[in-house]
Amino acid sequence: MNKKKSLAYMYDFYNKHMLHDQNDDIQYYKNQIKHYNSKNVLIVGAGTGRVAIPLSDIANVIALDFDEARLEVLREKSKNLKTICCDIKIFDTKEYFDMIVFPYSTIQFSNNEIEIDRILKQLIKIISTDTIILFDISKSFESKQKQKNILLFKDYSEEVKDNVSVYYSAKRYDKYIEFNVNYNLEQQKIQLLETEQYYYHNEKMFNKLLKNNNLKIIKIDYGYGNKNFTHKHIYHVKLDSR
Ligand SMILES: C[S@@+](CC[C@H](N)C(=O)[O-])C[C@H]1O[C@@H](n2cnc3c(N)ncnc32)[C@H](O)[C@@H]1O
Repeated sequence: MNKKKSLAYMYDFYNKHMLHDQNDDIQYYKNQIKHYNSKNVLIVGAGTGRVAIPLSDIANVIALDFDEARLEVLREKSKNLKTICCDIKIFDTKEYFDMIVFPYSTIQFSNNEIEIDRILKQLIKIISTDTIILFDISKSFESKQKQKNILLFKDYSEEVKDNVSVYYSAKRYDKYIEFNVNYNLEQQKIQLLETEQYYYHNEKMFNKLLKNNNLKIIKIDYGYGNKNFTHKHIYHVKLDSR
């Protein structure tokens, strides 16, 4: 198994162990699909399908990610949806979407102001006046503490057929936080490192970029409908047709 594929399995393994209440976002998106009566839904940053797969039970879902190994794992888990391996900054299509979802801080993933602007400029090329875009933005990165390497958990992974110890550390920078997750495959003596950077949310900048790109905020939900996760701000955005 190549390293990218093993890392994609590890990403899925991590999500299954660590993302408990975060999975409340799935019911939240199902409610939004019903509320807006959306039929065709694009998930941007679908990863291994945590959100995209359950949503494909109630809508036609296209799962987009620029990590092909993650999409390969998604396809092993479900044949119910189409996948596209592409960077959203260059994604072009004639397909119509009623809804586009950026789950779980995907818009903050390695994206500074210039990159977010590029994404919005690309989005307005592919949306229509009816398309609803949902951005799930986290307000917690700016208050998260730096962390020296700690063992998060240890378990057996069927996919890589080994006992895996999962270590985590976090470094804070001026505009973003960097997470390092190290997977130690014990029998195989392999170490796999995943590094991700998430930019702190700058509300003023984000609102300005939306406005400059002719996008308007319809509403912002704080959390997915329960007491937890109010630091997640879900922006509902569409074209400003004035
Ligand atoms: C935080 S993960 C979310 C994964 C999954 N949707 C979930 O909720 O568990 C962000 C995902 O977005 C993908 N991604 C980040 N920037 C992207 C871009 N510019 N174009 C396409 N995919 C991107 C990453 O590869 C990663 O799988």
